[in-house]
This record gives sequence, C-alpha cells and structure tokens, in this order.
Amino acid sequence: MTPAFPAPAWLVGCGNMAGAMVAGWRLAGIDFSGVTVIRPSGKPVDGVTTVTDYPEEQPQFVMLGFKPQKLDEVAPELAPHVGAQCIVVSMLAGVSAETLRERFPEARSVVRVMPNLPVAQGQGMTAIYSPDGGREQLADIDQLMASLGAISWCEKEEELGVIGAIASAGIAYVARFAAALAKSGEALGMQPGTAEQVAVQTLVGTAAYVADTGASMSEIAKRVASPKGTTEQGLAVLDAEEGLQQLVDRTIQAAVQRSRELADEAARRN
Ligand SMILES: NC(=O)c1ccc[n+]([C@@H]2O[C@H](COP(=O)([O-])OP(=O)(O)OC[C@H]3O[C@@H](n4cnc5c(N)ncnc54)[C@H](OP(=O)(O)O)[C@@H]3O)[C@@H](O)[C@H]2O)c1
Repeated sequence: MTPAFPAPAWLVGCGNMAGAMVAGWRLAGIDFSGVTVIRPSGKPVDGVTTVTDYPEEQPQFVMLGFKPQKLDEVAPELAPHVGAQCIVVSMLAGVSAETLRERFPEARSVVRVMPNLPVAQGQGMTAIYSPDGGREQLADIDQLMASLGAISWCEKEEELGVIGAIASAGIAYVARFAAALAKSGEALGMQPGTAEQVAVQTLVGTAAYVADTGASMSEIAKRVASPKGTTEQGLAVLDAEEGLQQLVDRTIQAAVQRSRELADEAARRN
C-alpha cells in the first residue's frame, strides 16, 4: 500500500532538501491532496498547494524544512498551530529533539530525520530518531521515509548526526572526489568537459555496479586491481599512512564538530 501523509500536513520551508523529498514522494505515487507547503516566497511547488501564511486548520503533520538558524523566527508563530495530534518532523541539522520539544511543547511526537539529496530519485539514505517512539509507534513516518530509499532508525540521537555527516554531507564529498578525478585527468591533458564526463560516469557506474552485484568495497577494489598492476600502485597511495582514510576521518570529524556547535547554539537560544 502506498504510504500517506497524516493530513492536514504542512511542509514548512521547501528548498533544496524538502523539495528533493517532495520529488521522491511524487515518484513513489504519494497523494499530496492534504499537503500544504508554507514558504515566505510562495514559490509554487509542482502539484502541492503552496502558500505564504499558515492555513486555518489543525495540522496532523508538520515538517520543518528551513535552515536551523531560522528556528527562532519560525517557532513562535508555528508552535500555536502544533497541537496534541501533531507529529513534528525536523530535518534541521544539529537541532536536538530536546530543543524541538521545548519549541513545540504540545506536539504528539517530535521526530528528527536526516535525509540526503538522492531521496529525489528514491535512492536516499535517511536517518530517523525520535525520543517519542520507534518504527512501530511512528509507522506512518517510517513508511513515508522508507518510500524515499533506505532508512536507519537510530537508538541514540548522536547516531543521527554521524549518519548525517556521512550520508547527507557525503554527497558533497563524493562529488568532490569525482571532481578531483576530473582535475587529475585535465592535468594529464584531457579536455575539461571530457574529464568531467569520464569522472561522473565512473561515479554513476560504480554506484550501479555496487547496487547490482552487492559486492563489498574491498571486493570491488580487488576486481579492478591486478597484482603489481596500475590500480594497485594507485591504491597504495590512497592507502598510505596519512592517506585517504585519515583525510576522510578529519573531514567527518569537522562536520560532526560543526553539528555539535549548531546544537549548542540552538539550545542556548532557548
Ligand atoms: N541540503 C541538504 O543536503 C540537507 C541534508 C540534510 C538536512 N538538511 C537540512 O534541510 C534544511 C533545509 O536546507 P536546504 O538546503 O533545503 O535549504 P534551502 O534550499 O535554503 O531552503 C530553505 C527553505 O526554508 C524556507 N524558509 C526560509 N525562511 C522561512 C520561514 N520564516 N518560514 C518558513 N520557511 C522558510 C525557504 O523558503 P523560500 O524558498 O520561500 O525562501 C526555503 O524553502 C536545513 O535545516 C538543513 O539542515 C539539508
């Protein structure tokens, strides 16, 4: 059965991330008839009623899709609409469930989600955490999120930040790696457009290969690298001390640290 929004449902803010979720839900055939997007610009969202002010109705579902820094501006006006029947789903990076509960004290449940952009293609990775229940108590949220790709329910809130640092931000890191491949190609004389095409297709092809074969990352490397061959020489550089793993560790740690700072800032503003 196709999942459904608890209606009326409000999507408060619908930029890059919430817009990608709407695209994914559209792809999954979800009914938007009970859904309203509320955003200051009023910029229409295809197939969804879009307004600039909160409608005269009691929402059963409110998704927060604006930047974390906007919470101070949005919460005082939104909170009076959030009653005891309403589930608040937040994608705000670094804003804790405790802060959300303080901002929306009447809400039935507060749920944090950390999606990534491929939700638009139904290929997302979404972490979910709620102090108010798990997948059974929040079955409608579970099903809505599962219609966007893979999901992972977190037992501890910190896990959500870590999955976010890897999966949500990871899109940018993987894109940077592909850009670096392209730049290396250029440095060896390839035309910039060709280098980018080759790098991007390598990325897309790797993802398709992994999805299709289910091979592990180390198995894939083994299948490409013949003993004493060219790939093995390249992998030795990546695998060297202070190589790729250490670089990625530092990258993820920097993002996790920023997530903690954002959480502290949001908590201090309460
Ligand atoms: N981008 C990602 O990959 C990603 C991944 C995981 C989580 N997130 C989280 O997703 C959230 C949104 O990020 P984004 O990249 O989608 O940002 P974005 O593209 O800048 O979108 C922000 C949205 O917030 C709306 N907005 C601004 N002020 C508002 C207000 N006072 N009331 C209601 N809506 C308001 C904007 O409306 P207008 O368009 O009308 O101006 C816009 O639709 C952030 O909290 C972020 O932590 C993002």
